Formats: sequence, structure tokens, C-alpha cells
Amino acid sequence: MYRFISDDLTGTVLTATAPDPRALEALFSFWAEAGVEMCYADSPVDRTLPPPRPTPPKLNLVATTPLPGLQAGPDPVLALAEARQRAAEATDLESLKSAIEAFRGCPLRDLGARQVVFGRGNPKGRILAIGEAPGVDEDLQGLPFVGRSGQLLDRMLKAAGIFDETFITNTVYWSPPGNRQPTQAEQLVLSPFVEKTIRLIQPRAILLIGGMAAKGLLGKDEGILKLRGQWFDWAGETPGPTIKALPTLHPAFLLRQSASKKLAWEDLLKLSETLIDP
Ligand code: URA
Repeated sequence: MYRFISDDLTGTVLTATAPDPRALEALFSFWAEAGVEMCYADSPVDRTLPPPRPTPPKLNLVATTPLPGLQAGPDPVLALAEARQRAAEATDLESLKSAIEAFRGCPLRDLGARQVVFGRGNPKGRILAIGEAPGVDEDLQGLPFVGRSGQLLDRMLKAAGIFDETFITNTVYWSPPGNRQPTQAEQLVLSPFVEKTIRLIQPRAILLIGGMAAKGLLGKDEGILKLRGQWFDWAGETPGPTIKALPTLHPAFLLRQSASKKLAWEDLLKLSETLIDP
């Protein structure tokens, strides 16, 4: 039997009765060096064909009552209902993490991520920092903000004297493929878990790290450069107090634009002032 292996990047087409392991190894290292981290499908996709017509969205469907024993399917309304139910049942951060691990309703989970990345830091801290999404380093270690931008974040929190007061999490718990930003739909279906994290920690203030975190939690459409440094009220949909939320610049942005570190520093000082008791 003949096997054909075609490589879009190099144009190579290997034909053999059985794949030559050295040729395969060379091809895979080429892909790895080019930054290709994962393979999405076993069969080839004909990208010359027009894209399939999108299915029209379902309108006016609001899931208000979680169904007992509900299994999330591809339907985002059912998935959101399941997320709400699982989050409501969690009694502490550990059971919340297990609830996220058991949740199959977020498509991100099946796009190549290795594990759930939930949180790190002081669960009794008075600040909850919420970033956008785990990246490659976080996916490997299972902890948020452990790569280069996380190291910068830690240094800044330490310099502002609030590192020991902070618990860090993200708006989504699986690393999106190709290091892309999480979509609003992915953030929405996981929002009950984020909200439960806030309810369990009961922070005095929330630090929203980056535009996607600010958008996900506050529903604001303005860019992060407009939102940063201003206090907003986060209310959530479950009973509980309103909490002050402060958007700031993402450390990945600061690594590229170091002149903006000054602005992020001002935000952290503002945040640290909330810990001073009147
Ligand atoms: N960027 C984020 O927003 N979160 C992480 O955990 C890592 C990088």
C-alpha cells in the first residue's frame, strides 16, 4: 500500500510503501522549528473550496434552570447551564478546579491543550488578578502566568507590595491553539467558574489584566488604553457584593512597549491603596 505525506509548508510529498522514519523526523523538526505545535485533523482539508455557510445562531433561547445530570453537548446554551450548575455546586477552590476539569462544554478543551490551568497565589488574598488565557508555558506547567509575562507580573506585584495578597487566574482555563486570544463565546461559557472564583475568594479588589479580561468581566468595548487605571463595579449574576475592578495593561504588552510600564505601575499603586484600611 502506498502512503502519501504532503507538507504544505515545504511542498514536500513523500511516497513510500512505509514512511521512512528519517524523512518523517526531518519533516517534523521542520514543522516544530516553524512553530507548528499541533495537528488539527487526520484528513487533509481542501482550502480552495468556499467555506461552509455558517449555521444561523439560535435566538431567544435562555437557559435559566440547570437540568439534573445535564451533559454539555455542542449547544452553548446547554453548556452554559451546565457550567452554572457545576460552579454553584463547588464549595471551595479545590472543588471548583475539579468542576472545571469535569466540564466538557468549552470547545477550547479539545483544541490541543494539555491540562486545566486554574490558579496560583494566596487564596485568602485580598486581590484577585484575572488574566486572559494561559499560554504555552502555562499549559506545560498547569499554572497561570508562569512564562515571561508572568515573571514580569510577579516582579511588579512584589514591587508594589501586593504579591502575597494576590491570587491569579484567567478568563479561560485551557491554552487556546496558536496562542490566540480567547473568543467571547469561550469566555462566556466559562464565566460561571470565574464568577465562583470571585465569590469564593471575596477579594477587596479585582485586577483585570489586559483588554480581553476587561471586556470579559465588564462587558466594555473600549480599548484597554482607555479603560486602564479606572475603577469599575463588577456585579456578577449570582448573589453577592459588588466588587471594585481595575483594568490594567497586560505584561505581554509591557514587554513589547516598555514605555507603558509607567502606566501599569500607576495602576498597581492605585490597587495597593485599596488594601489600606480606613
Ligand atoms: N497571559 C495571560 O493572560 N494569562 C496567563 O496565564 C499567561 C499569559
